[in-house]
Amino acid sequence: MTTTTTTSPQPSRRGFFLVFEGIDGAGTTSQQRWLCERLTALGRGFHKTAEPTGNPVGRLIRGVLRGEHAPFSPHSLALLFAADRADHLSREIEPALADGKIVVCDRYVLSSLAYQTAAGVPIELVRQLNAPFPIPDLTVYFDLPVEIAAQRRAKRGQAQEIFEVDDFQREVAQLYQAQAQAWQASGKPIHFVDAARSFEEVSAQLEALILPALASR
Ligand code: TYD
Repeated sequence: MTTTTTTSPQPSRRGFFLVFEGIDGAGTTSQQRWLCERLTALGRGFHKTAEPTGNPVGRLIRGVLRGEHAPFSPHSLALLFAADRADHLSREIEPALADGKIVVCDRYVLSSLAYQTAAGVPIELVRQLNAPFPIPDLTVYFDLPVEIAAQRRAKRGQAQEIFEVDDFQREVAQLYQAQAQAWQASGKPIHFVDAARSFEEVSAQLEALILPALASR
């Protein structure tokens, strides 16, 4: 997992915590790359990051997802994702925000609520594990039908991870949408984008959505 940090022009102000969420194949990773190129062009200080992280717990999780270890129970994986997140916050996210940077993170708490619940962990338990973590300043949910996401993943031709199975993705998508809507209903800052459109159309919507939100930072 690559992590990029650039110098912040305004180190004394608190930064902005931005998260991209969506099922596998929804395009969060490529749009994150695009946004960070845009931020570089604008001379904004940012920290590009993702979960699972490239830190020790995140590396263990990636091994599990590739099927390299004996299977971990859904519960133990939920604990690992929460541990990786706690470590990510204290090691990278909080220091970058304190330094005035825009943190652009691919996946966060909503991913656990969708995937770990779909894997069979009671949602209340997943909520409790994630309750201590701060709510991002803005979450963008990439909405995409599971069939289109499956076609895009097939085109990428990468090795399949244990969660990239059609029936499981269907379950994840339902939970993801329900949880994202519940966040919105409870007043948490989240926007939905139609990720079935072209890359350029999605980027244009992200630009219109995100750059004004960053203007005051
Ligand atoms: P992903 O973003 O697909 O990483 P990469 O593109 O580098 O493979 O994340 C890997 C998987 O981890 C993905 O299927 C979603 C899953 N995941 C969870 O199950 N729970 C979580 O809390 C997070 C952050 C990810």
